[in-house]
Amino acid sequence: MDPHARPDPVRLKVCIVGASGKLGQYMVKHALDRGYQVVGVCREESVGKLDAFKGRMTVMAGATDDRNVIARAVAGCDGVLTVLVPRGVHGYSSGTAQAVLDHARPEARLVFSCGWHISRDGHDVYSLKLKALVKIAGPLAKLARFADLGDQVEACRRIFASNTRWTMVRGSDLQEGDSQGLPVWSRHVGDPILASNLTRRVDFALFMVDALTNDQLVQEAPAIVGCRTPSALAHPATGAGAR
Ligand SMILES: NC(=O)c1ccc[n+]([C@@H]2O[C@H](COP(=O)([O-])OP(=O)(O)OC[C@H]3O[C@@H](n4cnc5c(N)ncnc54)[C@H](OP(=O)(O)O)[C@@H]3O)[C@@H](O)[C@H]2O)c1
Repeated sequence: MDPHARPDPVRLKVCIVGASGKLGQYMVKHALDRGYQVVGVCREESVGKLDAFKGRMTVMAGATDDRNVIARAVAGCDGVLTVLVPRGVHGYSSGTAQAVLDHARPEARLVFSCGWHISRDGHDVYSLKLKALVKIAGPLAKLARFADLGDQVEACRRIFASNTRWTMVRGSDLQEGDSQGLPVWSRHVGDPILASNLTRRVDFALFMVDALTNDQLVQEAPAIVGCRTPSALAHPATGAGAR
């Protein structure tokens, strides 16, 4: 045996909850590119959206807040990547988060997605536009029974209070396009480095997958922004957001 041979890279087993969405599909691709074993959970009617990955991942059909589906999907996983969406008005986000918190292995890395509107400690400074969006569009979406932002807040409250190895990745406004690289981050919205408020969706997914192996992000709620945006270039990451 060659004494200088490198050990095989660790082949993590990861579950992606909400795998068929735009963010989910990018996460599947990044995870497969890293050689990880991937289990994806998505709604029955969305299974076809994952056809491009057929034979390279396991797909479990079901609602992401179905505790039985989640229990089976996360069994034996080293990490769980969860797309938290506040769809409907029946606790979809909090149900999904609770199922993951309850059924993932205690030592698993749990990485969740949400937007800048979620605050961990109340020290984020928001633009008028974002405040108005939450104050006006939030209640309207609930009235139309389309989405319940308050339930996503509740989901995040439970995650922040848990003693699991969680990371809450808070996305800025998103755009499509080729990867620009790993986004930079800061603890608080309002910090100058985040001012550009734009991240490529493919890079949001990259940050989520990368967080699985970045222990500096355990029990952190990084607010992210694209690494090539003007604010990121003008304020190189130091301190918490530096890698
Ligand atoms: N959009 C933004 O501008 C933005 C900005 C910042 C952060 N974020 C965060 O990014 C994450 C992904 O957001 P996204 O907007 O980019 O969406 P996305 O990746 O397309 O994901 C949407 C998810 O919602 C599911 N979904 C759609 N309709 C549903 C329904 N009626 N019932 C249950 N689930 C349903 C989708 O599943 P199917 O594939 O089954 O439809 C998919 O998993 C979220 O955590 C969000 O908070 C988004």
